[in-house]
Amino acid sequence: MAPASSSENLMEKIVSLAKRRGFVFPGSEIYGGFANSWDYGPLGVELKNNIKQLWWNRFVHRRSDMVGIDAALIMNPKVWEASKHLETFSDPLVECKKCHERFRADTIDLGAPCPSCKSKEGFTEPKQFNLMLKTFLGPAEEKANIAYFRPETAQAMFVDFKNVLDTARKTLPFGIAQIGKAFRNEITPGNFIFRTREFEQMEIEYFIPVPAKDEDWQESFEMWRKEMWAWITDDLGIEKNHVHELDVPKDELAHYSKQTIDFEYDYPFGKKELYGLAYRTDFDLKNHFKEGPYLDQQTGERSWPHVIEPTWGVDRSVLAVLSDAYTEDGDRVYLKFKPKLAPYKAAVFPLLANKPELVDAAQAVYKSLQEHFNVAWDPRGNIGKRYYAQDEIGTPFCITVDFDTIGNNTVTVRNRDTAKQERIPIEKLKEFLHNEIYR
Ligand code: GAP
Repeated sequence: MAPASSSENLMEKIVSLAKRRGFVFPGSEIYGGFANSWDYGPLGVELKNNIKQLWWNRFVHRRSDMVGIDAALIMNPKVWEASKHLETFSDPLVECKKCHERFRADTIDLGAPCPSCKSKEGFTEPKQFNLMLKTFLGPAEEKANIAYFRPETAQAMFVDFKNVLDTARKTLPFGIAQIGKAFRNEITPGNFIFRTREFEQMEIEYFIPVPAKDEDWQESFEMWRKEMWAWITDDLGIEKNHVHELDVPKDELAHYSKQTIDFEYDYPFGKKELYGLAYRTDFDLKNHFKEGPYLDQQTGERSWPHVIEPTWGVDRSVLAVLSDAYTEDGDRVYLKFKPKLAPYKAAVFPLLANKPELVDAAQAVYKSLQEHFNVAWDPRGNIGKRYYAQDEIGTPFCITVDFDTIGNNTVTVRNRDTAKQERIPIEKLKEFLHNEIYR
């Protein structure tokens, strides 16, 4: 067997660290796992929540032209009829004539041997396979009770548009944001949490006045393009040159889009979609509302506002952040998360676990910081191992209480990235961490 390439190695290392340290576990593992389902563990849920909170903060709380909603996952099936998802939300499916494994026709070379069994017998003709995940509501499994899990959070923002307008009293342009689960019966899920059948999205539908000319929607599109870059570099701390824009060719656009830019990230398994930005026109509001749902208070005219849609995958954000943060420095492995994203902002240790005076003093520091930050407590093993363990989960600061602490009320604070230590008075710790984390 050929040696694994370094990028394959990197993916294996990330998946293994994620499991070993409690970021992401295989779903239902004690039953042998379950078709590309993954569970976020104690540290994964912190990382994911930090990402979602930063997003909500940047795009909802810090903007006066934005409000949020949290809608039902299963909506009236008429929503999916109107949005054309039942008709058009599909991928081309082919089957290997020998092993019968199924593939998305647009992700493999149909002239090459089967990626699974290597047979050269070829594939069946591509058939459109609808990705909507079906279920039945109520006790009877009959046609009238069929319902679908939402394949995108977006539709709720259109369906609730008038209710939001009536209650939030916004004028154009303004946006509606939502974070939540979406479901797609993907033909070929894979690459860890990159493509799954159940995933989370953070989406904004940004409503603008009916554009008189192309430049009118392009201005808004451009504003969101810049915002998406700011999020990637300033909030997630991802290297700018690891993300690339792809102007999606016209013949590959989603059924609702007039223009789409994909933001692609250099994952260990290759350059693939991270986020998307689309100009959805008035496609959705026209499908859902017979009469223009927006009333201009000044002119008294009704209209169907147009929509710019920036969309972010939560799980792909987690994967990109993990990949970008993974760093090896000799034997030392550390996750160089931006401190804002780190599951624990600091860890507190007594230098020795068998010295009650050190343990008590360290506990007091730990308890006081816990009121302000998510902090870890670890009294076990030698100090070098404790540093190593915190590095591996990306804790930016390790605070050690030693014999000097008892005399002068100072502690050592070790920086994850430089491994350097400095002494800081206990009374300054909160301010120090606050400045370092949120600056
Ligand atoms: N409302 C528009 C929309 O849903 P999309 O490009 O199909 O557009 C948006 O999805 C984002 O959701 C993607 O950029 C990606 O981050 C994430 N995403 C889509 N399918 C996914 C899947 N099967 N697994 C994980 N994330 C997915």
